[in-house]
Amino acid sequence: MTGPLSTGPLSTGPLRTGPLSAGLSPGAAAPDGRHLLSVGDLGAEGIDEVMRLADTFVEVGRRPIPRVPALRGKTIVSTFFEDSTRTRLSFEAAAKRLSADVMTFTGSSSSLNKGESLRDTVLTIEAMGVDAFVVRHACAGVPAQVAHWLEEIGETRGPSVINAGDGAHEHPTQALLDCFTISREREQRFGSRAGRPLVLSGLRIAIVGDIRHSRVARSDVLAFSTLGASVTLVAPPTLLPPSLVGWPVEVSHDIDTVVAKSDVVYLLRLQNERMNEQFLPSVREYTATYGLTAQRARLLGPSALVMHPGPVRRGIEIAAEVVDSPASVITAQVANGVAVRMAVLYLLLGSGAPIGA
Ligand code: MLT
Repeated sequence: MTGPLSTGPLSTGPLRTGPLSAGLSPGAAAPDGRHLLSVGDLGAEGIDEVMRLADTFVEVGRRPIPRVPALRGKTIVSTFFEDSTRTRLSFEAAAKRLSADVMTFTGSSSSLNKGESLRDTVLTIEAMGVDAFVVRHACAGVPAQVAHWLEEIGETRGPSVINAGDGAHEHPTQALLDCFTISREREQRFGSRAGRPLVLSGLRIAIVGDIRHSRVARSDVLAFSTLGASVTLVAPPTLLPPSLVGWPVEVSHDIDTVVAKSDVVYLLRLQNERMNEQFLPSVREYTATYGLTAQRARLLGPSALVMHPGPVRRGIEIAAEVVDSPASVITAQVANGVAVRMAVLYLLLGSGAPIGA
């Protein structure tokens, strides 16, 4: 097993204030290594640290008993105020594999329905003795606000907050697992891995679909560009953010040309739950113009990877046979998510002692 792990802060870079970070509340916690609110706080070094540690946890996951005592005695609460299957289960599996105690809170069956404020709910949970809050909310900025309330209590080292997706703002652990998946899959398929951040350097990554409403797109653009990839957004004008000032991306409306020259094609779901007006003439037309149909997938290069954060709507943004094709790494994304979240939890909450047998 490995020796002692780095105990350096998880967050190393300055808080991003560009348009990509719009939505962080004014009370956003400083990136002092206590919280993970934006992938932009990590910098290339921080992302690399998570990825290196995730390698170790992939190995732990393959053991007959995939569990280490690294976070024994710690309590992690998953506080999901919005629907989720994979992110919630992935965080809970990660915490359990590190031997942490896990509490599950679901907004729809809580005292919020009886009129309790979000702040009171958070402070009630904190009073039970919690080391980390994993927070998902439909509104951008809520994890940062929760971090602020917890810091106001004044404890020197109170609970950490991990953003598990806030509105259309950010989804930092999705971006980390996406970087990790690209790196591992390219290594396994083509044997290239010369210093991990360089693995994404120079890659051409296309993000296709509903960018406007996607927190995954925002976090991925930050992470991919930080690691040196060139990102092209492909979407109808109505599904692009109103302003792309400060986004390190190119934009195209010609999916066929982009698919043919991309190393990674990353599809996004049409996020109807965040659409408050009609953004498309019809779903059928969207699929014909921007979907990764089976015919269009024939344009992919031999080494290209196809990704999707899930949930996938087969036949809309991506054809069913493309989801199941060898180019698709969608299942690997889910599997890697557990190891990456273990790495994040360990770096935020671990004592710095060896992970253990
Ligand atoms: C998310 O939580 O943002 C998902 O992973 C992507 C989606 O909902 O389409």
